[in-house]
Amino acid sequence: MLKSIAIMTSGGDSPGMNAAARAVVRTALNEGVKVFGIYDGYKGMLEDRIVELNSQSVSDIIQRGGTFLGTARCPEFKQEETRAVAAQILKSHGIEGLVIIGGDGSLTGGSLLSKYGIPIVGLPGTIDNDVWGSDYTIGADTALNTILDAINKLRDTASAHRRIVVLEVMGRTCGWLAMMAAIAGGAEYVLVPEVKFDLDKMCAELKESYENGRRYSIVVVAEGVGSAVDIGKVIGEKTGIDTRVTVLGHVQRGGSPTAEDRVKASMLGEKAALALIDGQRNVVFGFNNGKVVAIDLHDSVNNNKTLDPELVRLARVLSK
Ligand code: ADP
Ligand code: F6P
Repeated sequence: MLKSIAIMTSGGDSPGMNAAARAVVRTALNEGVKVFGIYDGYKGMLEDRIVELNSQSVSDIIQRGGTFLGTARCPEFKQEETRAVAAQILKSHGIEGLVIIGGDGSLTGGSLLSKYGIPIVGLPGTIDNDVWGSDYTIGADTALNTILDAINKLRDTASAHRRIVVLEVMGRTCGWLAMMAAIAGGAEYVLVPEVKFDLDKMCAELKESYENGRRYSIVVVAEGVGSAVDIGKVIGEKTGIDTRVTVLGHVQRGGSPTAEDRVKASMLGEKAALALIDGQRNVVFGFNNGKVVAIDLHDSVNNNKTLDPELVRLARVLSK
């Protein structure tokens, strides 16, 4: 049984990270285990910004987006020497294990840090939903709902003006957010990095549909495909239809987490704390088919998640 653990958030923040951290802290305290919070991810770890937390440290945060611990990107952590220093800093506090909430980059950092004798439990925290082994990541549902809200609004104005609206959404190299937003938002087209597309064909179809009376079209573009501004320009030129581009940007990262993100993050947080305290290590907890699953940390970071072909097929069928 571990007696002292730490928690950190790292990489891009995502709504629900607070709920997960709260669950880790309260579960550990309930088990009589000390919990330290590491501020601003690996950057704060290297700067020794590590503070013991109590139950009140995590009150009034379940409803907030962002992360009360702060987060950061820390390129130096990719160097082996830096990770050796980080491990020493953790050990100097008597920290025996670490919960990392972050995306695949943060979990890769954790997998490498574990080689210095620090047991790691990871939780997938990113709006991108790109962590291998889990069909869910903390924050993706909230981001998806933010995108849907934007699509609903864009549809109104696009229809009023008979325009094409091109909407760029986040996801880094992963098209999950774009694909789900297209299905749930009823978009006419979705461009994702995982699926080849023919821009000329799409433009010809768009032109024809407007000639046949269509009033508006929504084209969702995953940022991993390229700039929606450039794509929108091509669409406007090739179709001759008035086209506008919206790059949704960081609004997708914020906001109060949805019920799904709060509940799942809480379930994962409890599981992570209990597993770490119990001596499990180098594991990521995620969800598959509605159930919490344990994924080997090294497998998770050494594999790339692919887009479910069923989603791709469904989006195609429904947009016709
Ligand atoms: P995310 O965790 O959301 O995928 P990043 O890819 O930016 O975000 O990673 C967050 C941080 O994790 C990086 O700034 C770095 O400190 C650490 N990290 C990412 N990749 C590696 C790696 N290959 N080796 C060590 N640390 C890494
Ligand atoms: O990984 C989350 C994410 O929001 C990606 O979707 C996006 O590509 C990236 O982070 C943006 O990073 P930053 O906040 O550094 O601009």
